[in-house]
Amino acid sequence: MEKEKKVAIIGGTGLTSLQNLDIVRSEVIMTPYGEPSSPVSYGVMEDGSLENGSKEIVFLARHGHEHNIPPHKVNYRANLWALNHIGINTLIAVNAVGGIRDDMLPGSLVLPNQIIDYTTQRINTFFEDNLTHVTHIDFSYPYSEELSQLILESAEKQHIELLQNATYAATEGPRLETAAEIQRLKRDGCDIVGMTGMPEAALARELEIDYVSICANANWAAGLSDELISMRDIEKNLLGAMAQIRCLIAQLLKSM
Ligand code: HPA
Repeated sequence: MEKEKKVAIIGGTGLTSLQNLDIVRSEVIMTPYGEPSSPVSYGVMEDGSLENGSKEIVFLARHGHEHNIPPHKVNYRANLWALNHIGINTLIAVNAVGGIRDDMLPGSLVLPNQIIDYTTQRINTFFEDNLTHVTHIDFSYPYSEELSQLILESAEKQHIELLQNATYAATEGPRLETAAEIQRLKRDGCDIVGMTGMPEAALARELEIDYVSICANANWAAGLSDELISMRDIEKNLLGAMAQIRCLIAQLLKSM
């Protein structure tokens, strides 16, 4: 029998709350790894209520509700531990990225299928202390194939364009990359670059949580356009993309 999906959304830059989520309650969860980025909010999508069988979902703001936790300071282990603790087995991450591949225009949405991890300073595992045996997870395919399929179908229903087959480069930040670094990522086969994809995806796999990321292209990556990258442009490009992501998530939840 198929297991019931208990769904959470981790919102990134541009998505510190889900406007179309009616929040029923919030909970602060303490974890062995410290405090998560935000309380978890439980809610239903606007057009549903729990009485008429709507799905309860959970929302967590990766950078805090005030958007004041930078990518390298996010307590990824606490976030994932908290979600696992409340029974989440299906996780949709939303991440802002810079576009590298030619079709990754600012404002477009991407469903990556691979990751290359360039982070250097982050604790990237739950499996380190008090082990009875050394544990390695399979991470050949970091994102859930089944969830990716469901998201693609939902995007099609909503006529939302979702770019596919993209490799996500996870960089340490918080600074953006140099133009030379982006050329190196391009040679490595990376299509988009962001600072929050790892270790989140690996920690989800360690906890056997099905994980997928919907990425919003905020800007051309460093050196790929004539302009320097400005926070103002990033915010502007993310506005439209996040509106589409809200729509996409609402459709996805309906079809689950
Ligand atoms: N690089 C890294 N992370 C990002 C970018 C970028 O260009 N844009 C949004 N997040």
